[in-house]
Amino acid sequence: MTINFQFPEDFWWGSATSATQIEGAAKEDGKAKNIWDHWYEKEPNRFFDEIGPDTTSNFYHTYKEDIKLMKEIGHNTFRLSISWSRFMPYGEVNQKAADFYNHVIDELIAQDIEPFVNLFHFDMPFDLQQQGGWESREVVEKYVDYAKTCFQLFGDRVTKWFTFNEPIVPVEGGYLYDFHYPNIVDAKKATQVAYHTMIAHAKAVEAFRTYNDNGSKIGIILNLTPSYPRSNNPADLRASRIADLFFNRSFLDPAVLGEYPSELIEILNEHGLLPNTEVGDKELLRENKVDILGVNYYQPRRVKAKEYLPNPYAPFMPDMYFDSYEMPGRKMNKYRGWEIYEKGIYDILKNLKDNYGNIESFISENGMGVQNEERFLRNREIQDDYRIEFIKEHLKWVHQAIQENCNVKGYHLWAFMDNWSWMNAYKNRYGFFAVDLKTMKRTPKKSAHWIKHVAENNGF
Ligand code: BG6
Repeated sequence: MTINFQFPEDFWWGSATSATQIEGAAKEDGKAKNIWDHWYEKEPNRFFDEIGPDTTSNFYHTYKEDIKLMKEIGHNTFRLSISWSRFMPYGEVNQKAADFYNHVIDELIAQDIEPFVNLFHFDMPFDLQQQGGWESREVVEKYVDYAKTCFQLFGDRVTKWFTFNEPIVPVEGGYLYDFHYPNIVDAKKATQVAYHTMIAHAKAVEAFRTYNDNGSKIGIILNLTPSYPRSNNPADLRASRIADLFFNRSFLDPAVLGEYPSELIEILNEHGLLPNTEVGDKELLRENKVDILGVNYYQPRRVKAKEYLPNPYAPFMPDMYFDSYEMPGRKMNKYRGWEIYEKGIYDILKNLKDNYGNIESFISENGMGVQNEERFLRNREIQDDYRIEFIKEHLKWVHQAIQENCNVKGYHLWAFMDNWSWMNAYKNRYGFFAVDLKTMKRTPKKSAHWIKHVAENNGF
Protein backbone atom coordinates (compact mmCIF):
# COMPACT_ATOMS: atom_id res chain seq x y z
CA MET A 1 0.00 0.00 0.00
CA THR A 2 1.35 3.41 -0.89
CA ILE A 3 1.17 6.08 1.77
CA ASN A 4 0.99 9.46 0.08
CA PHE A 5 0.46 11.47 3.22
CA GLN A 6 2.88 10.20 5.84
CA PHE A 7 2.77 11.91 9.24
CA PRO A 8 5.62 12.17 11.76
CA GLU A 9 6.19 9.10 13.89
CA ASP A 10 4.96 10.58 17.14
CA PHE A 11 1.84 12.21 15.66
CA TRP A 12 -1.16 12.29 18.04
CA TRP A 13 -4.20 10.49 16.68
CA GLY A 14 -7.33 10.74 18.75
CA SER A 15 -10.60 12.43 19.44
CA ALA A 16 -12.17 14.89 21.83
CA THR A 17 -15.13 15.04 24.18
CA SER A 18 -16.27 17.05 27.17
CA ALA A 19 -17.69 16.03 30.54
CA THR A 20 -21.21 17.44 30.31
CA GLN A 21 -21.56 16.17 26.76
CA ILE A 22 -20.74 12.52 27.41
CA GLU A 23 -20.81 11.59 31.09
CA GLY A 24 -24.54 11.63 31.85
CA ALA A 25 -25.08 10.76 35.55
CA ALA A 26 -25.87 14.42 36.08
CA LYS A 27 -27.36 13.83 39.51
CA GLU A 28 -25.29 10.88 40.68
CA ASP A 29 -22.59 10.51 43.30
CA GLY A 30 -22.71 14.05 44.58
CA LYS A 31 -22.50 16.00 41.35
CA ALA A 32 -23.89 19.49 41.83
CA LYS A 33 -25.87 21.37 39.22
CA ASN A 34 -24.09 23.30 36.53
CA ILE A 35 -25.66 26.05 34.42
CA TRP A 36 -26.87 23.51 31.84
CA ASP A 37 -28.72 21.42 34.43
CA HIS A 38 -30.34 24.60 35.68
CA TRP A 39 -31.24 26.05 32.29
CA TYR A 40 -32.75 22.76 31.14
CA GLU A 41 -34.89 22.57 34.29
CA LYS A 42 -36.13 26.07 33.59
CA GLU A 43 -36.62 25.97 29.82
CA PRO A 44 -36.47 22.42 28.42
CA ASN A 45 -38.08 23.57 25.19
CA ARG A 46 -34.97 25.54 24.25
CA PHE A 47 -33.14 22.23 23.77
CA PHE A 48 -33.44 20.16 20.60
CA ASP A 49 -36.07 17.45 21.09
CA GLU A 50 -36.14 18.58 24.72
CA ILE A 51 -33.20 16.34 25.54
CA GLY A 52 -31.24 17.66 28.50
CA PRO A 53 -27.81 17.18 30.06
CA ASP A 54 -29.03 14.38 32.33
CA THR A 55 -29.23 12.08 29.30
CA THR A 56 -25.82 12.27 27.70
CA SER A 57 -23.75 9.34 26.42
CA ASN A 58 -23.32 7.50 29.75
CA PHE A 59 -19.49 7.60 29.79
CA TYR A 60 -19.63 7.84 33.59
CA HIS A 61 -20.69 4.19 33.59
CA THR A 62 -19.10 2.88 30.39
CA TYR A 63 -15.68 4.52 30.37
CA LYS A 64 -13.85 1.19 30.49
CA GLU A 65 -15.58 -0.19 27.40
CA ASP A 66 -15.27 3.18 25.66
CA ILE A 67 -11.52 3.32 26.28
CA LYS A 68 -11.22 -0.17 24.81
CA LEU A 69 -12.98 1.10 21.70
CA MET A 70 -10.53 4.01 21.51
CA LYS A 71 -7.69 1.52 21.62
CA GLU A 72 -9.32 -0.59 18.92
CA ILE A 73 -9.41 2.34 16.51
CA GLY A 74 -5.79 3.26 17.06
CA HIS A 75 -6.04 6.27 19.35
CA ASN A 76 -2.82 7.22 21.11
CA THR A 77 -4.37 10.32 22.71
CA PHE A 78 -7.82 11.35 23.92
CA ARG A 79 -9.27 14.62 25.23
CA LEU A 80 -11.69 14.69 28.11
CA SER A 81 -12.74 17.46 30.43
CA ILE A 82 -13.25 17.41 34.16
CA SER A 83 -16.65 18.52 35.36
CA TRP A 84 -16.02 21.22 37.95
CA SER A 85 -19.47 20.72 39.48
CA ARG A 86 -18.88 16.98 39.80
CA PHE A 87 -15.30 17.19 41.05
CA MET A 88 -15.53 20.14 43.45
CA PRO A 89 -19.16 20.86 44.18
CA TYR A 90 -19.29 23.78 46.61
CA GLY A 91 -15.51 24.07 46.81
CA GLU A 92 -14.70 20.66 48.37
CA VAL A 93 -13.36 17.62 46.54
CA ASN A 94 -16.03 15.00 45.92
CA GLN A 95 -14.15 11.76 46.55
CA LYS A 96 -16.40 9.73 44.25
CA ALA A 97 -15.68 12.09 41.39
CA ALA A 98 -11.94 12.04 42.15
CA ASP A 99 -12.12 8.22 42.02
CA PHE A 100 -13.93 8.36 38.71
CA TYR A 101 -11.39 10.68 37.05
CA ASN A 102 -8.51 8.68 38.54
CA HIS A 103 -9.95 5.50 37.05
CA VAL A 104 -10.46 7.12 33.65
CA ILE A 105 -6.91 8.48 33.59
CA ASP A 106 -5.42 5.17 34.78
CA GLU A 107 -7.42 3.18 32.26
CA LEU A 108 -6.32 5.44 29.40
CA ILE A 109 -2.69 5.12 30.43
CA ALA A 110 -3.04 1.35 30.78
CA GLN A 111 -4.19 1.30 27.15
CA ASP A 112 -1.28 3.55 26.05
CA ILE A 113 -3.61 6.42 25.31
CA GLU A 114 -2.33 9.73 26.58
CA PRO A 115 -5.03 11.74 28.37
CA PHE A 116 -5.35 15.40 27.37
CA VAL A 117 -7.26 17.00 30.21
CA ASN A 118 -9.26 20.18 29.88
CA LEU A 119 -10.53 22.03 32.95
CA PHE A 120 -13.46 24.05 31.62
CA HIS A 121 -15.76 23.25 28.74
CA PHE A 122 -18.74 25.63 29.12
CA ASP A 123 -19.97 24.06 32.39
CA MET A 124 -19.96 26.68 35.13
CA PRO A 125 -21.23 25.28 38.46
CA PHE A 126 -24.65 26.82 39.01
CA ASP A 127 -23.99 28.14 42.52
CA LEU A 128 -20.92 29.99 41.19
CA GLN A 129 -22.97 31.42 38.34
CA GLN A 130 -25.33 32.76 40.97
CA GLN A 131 -22.33 34.43 42.57
CA GLY A 132 -21.69 36.19 39.24
CA GLY A 133 -19.95 33.48 37.21
CA TRP A 134 -17.09 34.89 35.13
CA GLU A 135 -18.32 38.41 35.84
CA SER A 136 -16.88 37.99 39.32
CA ARG A 137 -13.22 38.13 40.26
CA GLU A 138 -13.96 35.89 43.28
CA VAL A 139 -15.13 33.16 40.94
CA VAL A 140 -11.82 33.52 39.12
CA GLU A 141 -10.07 32.65 42.41
CA LYS A 142 -12.39 29.67 42.89
CA TYR A 143 -11.47 28.40 39.43
CA VAL A 144 -7.78 28.71 40.32
CA ASP A 145 -8.38 26.58 43.46
CA TYR A 146 -10.15 24.02 41.33
CA ALA A 147 -7.31 24.02 38.76
CA LYS A 148 -4.66 23.65 41.49
CA THR A 149 -6.54 20.72 43.01
CA CYS A 150 -6.67 19.00 39.63
CA PHE A 151 -2.93 19.54 39.07
CA GLN A 152 -2.21 18.14 42.55
CA LEU A 153 -4.39 15.07 42.21
CA PHE A 154 -3.83 14.11 38.58
CA GLY A 155 -0.60 15.89 37.62
CA ASP A 156 1.56 12.85 38.36
CA ARG A 157 0.01 11.14 35.31
CA VAL A 158 -1.46 13.86 33.12
CA THR A 159 1.14 15.70 31.06
CA LYS A 160 -1.12 17.73 28.74
CA TRP A 161 -3.40 20.24 30.42
CA PHE A 162 -5.79 22.81 29.01
CA THR A 163 -7.38 25.58 30.99
CA PHE A 164 -10.39 26.32 28.74
CA ASN A 165 -12.11 25.10 25.63
CA GLU A 166 -13.31 27.89 23.32
CA PRO A 167 -13.50 30.57 26.02
CA ILE A 168 -15.15 32.96 23.57
CA VAL A 169 -18.25 30.79 23.28
CA PRO A 170 -19.70 31.46 26.75
CA VAL A 171 -19.04 35.17 26.10
CA GLU A 172 -20.88 35.18 22.78
CA GLY A 173 -23.56 32.72 23.86
CA GLY A 174 -24.18 33.97 27.39
CA TYR A 175 -23.76 37.72 26.99
CA LEU A 176 -24.37 38.65 23.34
CA TYR A 177 -26.30 36.14 21.24
CA ASP A 178 -28.52 34.15 23.63
CA PHE A 179 -27.39 30.56 23.21
CA HIS A 180 -25.75 29.97 26.62
CA TYR A 181 -26.90 30.69 30.14
CA PRO A 182 -27.33 33.40 31.55
CA ASN A 183 -28.78 34.51 28.18
CA ILE A 184 -28.36 38.22 28.53
CA VAL A 185 -27.31 40.84 26.01
CA ASP A 186 -24.80 43.15 27.60
CA ALA A 187 -21.56 44.03 25.82
CA LYS A 188 -20.01 45.56 28.95
CA LYS A 189 -20.50 42.33 30.87
CA ALA A 190 -19.32 40.37 27.83
CA THR A 191 -15.93 42.10 27.82
CA GLN A 192 -15.63 41.68 31.59
CA VAL A 193 -16.39 37.97 31.30
CA ALA A 194 -13.90 37.56 28.44
CA TYR A 195 -11.24 39.38 30.43
CA HIS A 196 -11.84 37.44 33.65
CA THR A 197 -11.64 34.19 31.71
CA MET A 198 -8.18 35.16 30.49
CA ILE A 199 -7.15 36.18 34.01
CA ALA A 200 -8.40 32.83 35.32
CA HIS A 201 -6.46 31.13 32.54
CA ALA A 202 -3.22 32.99 33.30
CA LYS A 203 -3.54 32.36 37.05
CA ALA A 204 -4.04 28.66 36.38
CA VAL A 205 -0.94 28.64 34.18
CA GLU A 206 0.98 30.41 36.94
CA ALA A 207 -0.18 27.83 39.50
CA PHE A 208 0.68 24.99 37.13
CA ARG A 209 4.29 26.17 36.89
CA THR A 210 4.71 25.73 40.64
CA TYR A 211 3.09 22.27 40.77
CA ASN A 212 4.48 20.65 37.64
CA ASP A 213 8.15 20.53 36.92
CA ASN A 214 8.13 17.20 35.12
CA GLY A 215 8.03 18.43 31.53
CA SER A 216 4.23 18.57 31.45
CA LYS A 217 2.62 21.22 29.27
CA ILE A 218 -0.27 23.55 29.67
CA GLY A 219 -2.29 25.33 27.03
CA ILE A 220 -5.66 26.59 25.97
CA ILE A 221 -8.03 25.40 23.26
CA LEU A 222 -9.33 28.09 20.91
CA ASN A 223 -11.87 27.92 18.13
CA LEU A 224 -10.12 29.83 15.40
CA THR A 225 -12.15 31.02 12.44
CA PRO A 226 -9.82 32.49 9.83
CA SER A 227 -11.38 35.64 8.49
CA TYR A 228 -11.47 36.08 4.71
CA PRO A 229 -12.47 39.44 3.20
CA ARG A 230 -14.80 39.50 0.19
CA SER A 231 -12.32 41.62 -1.78
CA ASN A 232 -9.12 43.54 -1.41
CA ASN A 233 -10.84 46.88 -1.17
CA PRO A 234 -9.86 48.73 2.01
CA ALA A 235 -13.34 48.62 3.58
CA ASP A 236 -13.61 44.82 3.20
CA LEU A 237 -10.06 44.36 4.46
CA ARG A 238 -10.79 46.46 7.54
CA ALA A 239 -14.03 44.60 8.23
CA SER A 240 -12.19 41.30 8.05
CA ARG A 241 -9.35 42.54 10.25
CA ILE A 242 -11.82 43.65 12.93
CA ALA A 243 -13.70 40.34 12.83
CA ASP A 244 -10.33 38.64 13.31
CA LEU A 245 -9.58 40.88 16.29
CA PHE A 246 -12.88 40.12 17.99
CA PHE A 247 -13.20 36.43 17.27
CA ASN A 248 -9.61 35.16 17.13
CA ARG A 249 -7.05 37.59 18.45
CA SER A 250 -9.05 38.57 21.58
CA PHE A 251 -7.96 35.24 23.09
CA LEU A 252 -5.11 34.11 20.87
CA ASP A 253 -2.90 37.14 21.50
CA PRO A 254 -3.09 37.24 25.31
CA ALA A 255 -2.73 33.44 25.53
CA VAL A 256 0.27 33.07 23.21
CA LEU A 257 1.88 36.53 23.12
CA GLY A 258 0.88 37.64 26.61
CA GLU A 259 -0.89 40.84 25.60
CA TYR A 260 -4.06 42.14 23.95
CA PRO A 261 -3.85 43.70 20.47
CA SER A 262 -3.75 47.49 20.81
CA GLU A 263 -6.34 47.98 18.05
CA LEU A 264 -8.82 45.84 20.00
CA ILE A 265 -8.23 47.92 23.13
CA GLU A 266 -8.82 51.11 21.12
CA ILE A 267 -12.11 49.88 19.69
CA LEU A 268 -13.41 48.72 23.07
CA ASN A 269 -12.31 51.99 24.61
CA GLU A 270 -14.25 53.99 21.98
CA HIS A 271 -17.38 52.18 23.08
CA GLY A 272 -16.67 52.49 26.81
CA LEU A 273 -16.30 48.73 27.06
CA LEU A 274 -12.93 48.30 28.69
CA PRO A 275 -13.19 45.82 31.57
CA ASN A 276 -12.18 46.49 35.18
CA THR A 277 -8.64 45.36 35.78
CA GLU A 278 -6.37 44.98 38.79
CA VAL A 279 -2.80 46.03 39.37
CA GLY A 280 -0.49 43.26 38.21
CA ASP A 281 -2.85 41.82 35.58
CA LYS A 282 -0.68 42.92 32.68
CA GLU A 283 2.39 41.23 34.14
CA LEU A 284 0.35 38.14 34.97
CA LEU A 285 -0.66 37.77 31.31
CA ARG A 286 2.80 38.58 30.04
CA GLU A 287 4.50 36.05 32.32
CA ASN A 288 2.10 33.16 31.80
CA LYS A 289 2.01 32.35 28.13
CA VAL A 290 0.93 28.88 27.04
CA ASP A 291 3.25 26.02 26.07
CA ILE A 292 0.81 24.51 23.65
CA LEU A 293 -2.28 25.55 21.74
CA GLY A 294 -5.29 23.45 20.80
CA VAL A 295 -6.93 24.58 17.57
CA ASN A 296 -10.60 23.85 16.97
CA TYR A 297 -11.45 24.43 13.35
CA TYR A 298 -14.80 23.88 11.70
CA GLN A 299 -15.42 26.69 9.24
CA PRO A 300 -14.03 29.99 7.97
CA ARG A 301 -15.54 33.43 8.48
CA ARG A 302 -16.39 35.31 5.25
CA VAL A 303 -16.57 39.01 5.81
CA LYS A 304 -17.47 42.16 3.89
CA ALA A 305 -17.79 45.80 4.87
CA LYS A 306 -21.14 46.90 6.29
CA GLU A 307 -23.61 47.90 3.65
CA TYR A 308 -25.40 50.35 5.93
CA LEU A 309 -23.82 52.42 8.63
CA PRO A 310 -24.93 51.08 12.00
CA ASN A 311 -27.29 53.14 14.09
CA PRO A 312 -24.95 55.15 16.37
CA TYR A 313 -27.45 54.79 19.25
CA ALA A 314 -27.76 51.01 18.98
CA PRO A 315 -25.91 49.09 21.69
CA PHE A 316 -22.53 47.68 20.73
CA MET A 317 -22.36 44.33 18.94
CA PRO A 318 -19.18 43.04 17.27
CA ASP A 319 -21.00 42.68 13.96
CA MET A 320 -21.69 46.39 13.78
CA TYR A 321 -18.28 46.43 12.06
CA PHE A 322 -18.86 43.85 9.34
CA ASP A 323 -21.38 41.77 7.47
CA SER A 324 -21.06 38.10 6.70
CA TYR A 325 -21.39 36.95 3.14
CA GLU A 326 -21.77 33.66 1.35
CA MET A 327 -18.91 33.02 -0.99
CA PRO A 328 -20.26 32.02 -4.38
CA GLY A 329 -19.49 28.37 -5.18
CA ARG A 330 -18.56 27.56 -1.61
CA LYS A 331 -18.56 23.93 -0.50
CA MET A 332 -21.08 23.15 2.22
CA ASN A 333 -21.72 20.58 4.88
CA LYS A 334 -25.35 20.58 3.92
CA TYR A 335 -26.21 18.32 6.85
CA ARG A 336 -25.16 21.01 9.33
CA GLY A 337 -25.28 24.19 7.28
CA TRP A 338 -21.62 25.13 7.68
CA GLU A 339 -19.14 25.97 4.96
CA ILE A 340 -16.34 23.49 4.40
CA TYR A 341 -13.04 25.13 3.56
CA GLU A 342 -10.22 22.69 4.20
CA LYS A 343 -7.39 25.10 3.43
CA GLY A 344 -8.51 27.18 6.44
CA ILE A 345 -6.76 24.68 8.72
CA TYR A 346 -3.48 25.32 6.90
CA ASP A 347 -3.95 29.09 7.00
CA ILE A 348 -4.36 28.92 10.77
CA LEU A 349 -1.21 26.83 11.20
CA LYS A 350 0.80 29.12 8.90
CA ASN A 351 -0.40 32.13 10.88
CA LEU A 352 0.75 30.46 14.10
CA LYS A 353 4.12 29.83 12.52
CA ASP A 354 4.57 33.30 11.08
CA ASN A 355 3.04 35.46 13.81
CA TYR A 356 2.89 33.41 17.00
CA GLY A 357 6.43 32.06 17.35
CA ASN A 358 5.49 28.71 15.77
CA ILE A 359 3.87 27.71 19.06
CA GLU A 360 3.43 23.96 19.46
CA SER A 361 -0.13 23.14 18.44
CA PHE A 362 -2.48 20.35 17.55
CA ILE A 363 -5.88 20.18 15.95
CA SER A 364 -8.01 19.71 19.03
CA GLU A 365 -11.37 19.64 17.21
CA ASN A 366 -12.40 19.29 13.59
CA GLY A 367 -15.36 17.32 12.45
CA MET A 368 -18.57 17.02 10.59
CA GLY A 369 -21.96 17.22 12.26
CA VAL A 370 -24.76 15.43 10.45
CA GLN A 371 -28.49 15.54 11.16
CA ASN A 372 -30.54 12.35 10.94
CA GLU A 373 -27.43 10.34 10.33
CA GLU A 374 -29.26 7.04 10.64
CA ARG A 375 -30.40 7.57 7.03
CA PHE A 376 -26.88 6.47 6.02
CA LEU A 377 -27.20 3.13 7.78
CA ARG A 378 -26.47 0.13 5.52
CA ASN A 379 -25.66 -3.36 6.80
CA ARG A 380 -25.90 -2.10 10.36
CA GLU A 381 -23.14 0.47 9.84
CA ILE A 382 -23.37 4.19 9.15
CA GLN A 383 -21.58 4.70 5.84
CA ASP A 384 -20.13 8.10 6.62
CA ASP A 385 -17.95 8.47 3.53
CA TYR A 386 -18.63 12.22 3.70
CA ARG A 387 -16.87 12.30 7.13
CA ILE A 388 -13.90 10.29 5.84
CA GLU A 389 -13.62 12.72 2.94
CA PHE A 390 -13.89 15.68 5.32
CA ILE A 391 -11.15 14.40 7.63
CA LYS A 392 -8.89 13.34 4.77
CA GLU A 393 -9.07 16.69 3.00
CA HIS A 394 -8.30 18.55 6.22
CA LEU A 395 -5.46 16.18 7.05
CA LYS A 396 -3.89 16.82 3.64
CA TRP A 397 -3.61 20.49 4.56
CA VAL A 398 -2.24 19.63 8.02
CA HIS A 399 0.33 17.49 6.23
CA GLN A 400 1.20 20.38 3.94
CA ALA A 401 1.66 22.63 6.99
CA ILE A 402 4.04 20.06 8.52
CA GLN A 403 6.06 20.04 5.27
CA GLU A 404 6.43 23.79 5.76
CA ASN A 405 7.69 23.31 9.32
CA CYS A 406 4.55 24.32 11.17
CA ASN A 407 4.80 22.95 14.69
CA VAL A 408 1.57 20.90 14.65
CA LYS A 409 1.66 17.64 16.55
CA GLY A 410 -1.69 15.91 16.22
CA TYR A 411 -5.28 15.63 15.11
CA HIS A 412 -8.36 15.02 17.28
CA LEU A 413 -11.72 14.53 15.70
CA TRP A 414 -14.75 16.03 17.33
CA ALA A 415 -15.88 13.60 18.60
CA PHE A 416 -15.12 10.12 19.84
CA MET A 417 -18.83 9.30 19.89
CA ASP A 418 -22.13 11.03 19.27
CA ASN A 419 -22.78 13.34 22.18
CA TRP A 420 -25.05 15.96 23.66
CA SER A 421 -24.22 19.34 22.21
CA TRP A 422 -25.73 22.03 24.44
CA MET A 423 -28.87 23.58 22.89
CA ASN A 424 -28.48 21.34 19.85
CA ALA A 425 -28.56 18.25 22.10
CA TYR A 426 -28.27 15.20 19.78
CA LYS A 427 -29.28 17.04 16.61
CA ASN A 428 -25.88 16.92 14.90
CA ARG A 429 -24.02 13.64 15.14
CA TYR A 430 -20.23 13.85 15.11
CA GLY A 431 -18.84 10.59 16.45
CA PHE A 432 -16.62 7.84 15.14
CA PHE A 433 -19.14 5.77 17.09
CA ALA A 434 -22.90 6.09 16.78
CA VAL A 435 -24.78 6.10 20.07
CA ASP A 436 -28.26 4.65 20.33
CA LEU A 437 -30.01 6.89 22.83
CA LYS A 438 -32.37 4.16 24.02
CA THR A 439 -29.81 1.44 24.69
CA MET A 440 -26.65 3.59 24.81
CA LYS A 441 -25.07 0.99 22.54
CA ARG A 442 -22.02 2.19 20.58
CA THR A 443 -21.63 1.13 16.95
CA PRO A 444 -18.57 2.03 14.90
CA LYS A 445 -19.23 4.07 11.79
CA LYS A 446 -17.23 3.45 8.62
CA SER A 447 -14.94 6.36 9.61
CA ALA A 448 -13.94 4.48 12.78
CA HIS A 449 -12.46 1.65 10.68
CA TRP A 450 -10.85 4.15 8.35
CA ILE A 451 -9.14 6.15 11.13
CA LYS A 452 -7.80 2.93 12.63
CA HIS A 453 -5.83 2.31 9.42
CA VAL A 454 -4.72 5.91 9.25
CA ALA A 455 -3.44 5.81 12.84
CA GLU A 456 -1.74 2.44 12.36
CA ASN A 457 0.02 3.62 9.19
CA ASN A 458 0.59 7.12 10.42
CA GLY A 459 -0.89 8.32 7.18
CA PHE A 460 -3.05 7.40 4.24
C1 BG6 B 1 -17.56 22.83 19.29
C2 BG6 B 1 -17.69 22.66 20.80
O1 BG6 B 1 -17.31 24.15 18.96
O2 BG6 B 1 -18.71 22.48 18.55
C3 BG6 B 1 -18.42 21.37 21.16
O3 BG6 B 1 -16.43 22.69 21.44
C4 BG6 B 1 -19.66 21.21 20.30
O4 BG6 B 1 -18.70 21.38 22.54
C5 BG6 B 1 -19.27 21.21 18.83
O5 BG6 B 1 -20.36 20.04 20.64
C6 BG6 B 1 -20.43 20.94 17.84
O6 BG6 B 1 -21.47 21.81 17.94
P1 BG6 B 1 -22.87 21.59 17.21
O7 BG6 B 1 -23.67 22.79 17.54
O8 BG6 B 1 -22.62 21.48 15.73
O9 BG6 B 1 -23.47 20.32 17.74
